[in-house]
Amino acid sequence: MILINKSSDLLSYISEQKQGNRSIGFVPTMGALHNGHLSLIAAAKQKCDIVVCSIFVNPTQFNQESDLASYPRTLENDIDLLLSVSCDVLFHPNIVEVYGNTLDKDSSEDYGSFIHQLEGASRPGHFDGVVTVLRKLFALVGPTDVFFGQKDYQQCLVVKTLIKRSFPQIVFNLCSITREEDGLAMSSRNVRLSEEERRLAPQIHDNLQLVSQYWNKEQWQLGLNLAQLNLKKEPFCFEYLCACDPFSLAELNVFQSNAIVLVAVQLGSTRLIDNIIIVP
Ligand code: PAF
Repeated sequence: MILINKSSDLLSYISEQKQGNRSIGFVPTMGALHNGHLSLIAAAKQKCDIVVCSIFVNPTQFNQESDLASYPRTLENDIDLLLSVSCDVLFHPNIVEVYGNTLDKDSSEDYGSFIHQLEGASRPGHFDGVVTVLRKLFALVGPTDVFFGQKDYQQCLVVKTLIKRSFPQIVFNLCSITREEDGLAMSSRNVRLSEEERRLAPQIHDNLQLVSQYWNKEQWQLGLNLAQLNLKKEPFCFEYLCACDPFSLAELNVFQSNAIVLVAVQLGSTRLIDNIIIVP
């Protein structure tokens, strides 16, 4: 695996690969890698000639300084994991390489009304930071394909819009959620859970499954209510659990057979999100 820190080195490496007509799969990450990320790399390896993973903790997408400061940084372990799945390139730039000297942000305001819902409501400005950094990274890496995890479903819709508008040559690949044996969605934030919180965290997925079991015209709202009640019990600090249209993310007020149910809760000091796609 080649480790690249400078944007100029990445650009020349990529231009060589393009001269050789190689397809480039890109997996952008903020590090603290886990099996979920590795499954994205594996999907990229299957489809593309060269796989580039970036590790960059993007300051503009954090709306709380404390969250940015405490975001786990585990570079040595990340490198070992990337080697274990034969990733070709790790791009690990510093802030100046990506942003220059000013942390200016793009706006995601006109990406659709879903921008202000769910994660957008809980983390104002978050998606502005995401589109800002991805625009820069996509321009540097010039990927043929990008790979994103369904766990950040709303982010996936944002990325699809960015691609449609500014990078129509890139193919977006949605990869399913990787879970621990007890159902907890893998996340870099899971390491912050105490033993007791980790024991309780699978209830998030259990309650998504509960909703999917009740998913019929007569009982869908009952399922949602039950799951909400369960996740409003201490020590969970409930943010949202709602059923939405999978394309527009508009919250459902009438039943439809295909839906996505998205959830966010705080457990201790750790904020966790998850979702389940319901297909007819
Ligand atoms: O999902 C993430 O880890 C980040 O939002 C991303 C896509 C790497 C942008 O910083």
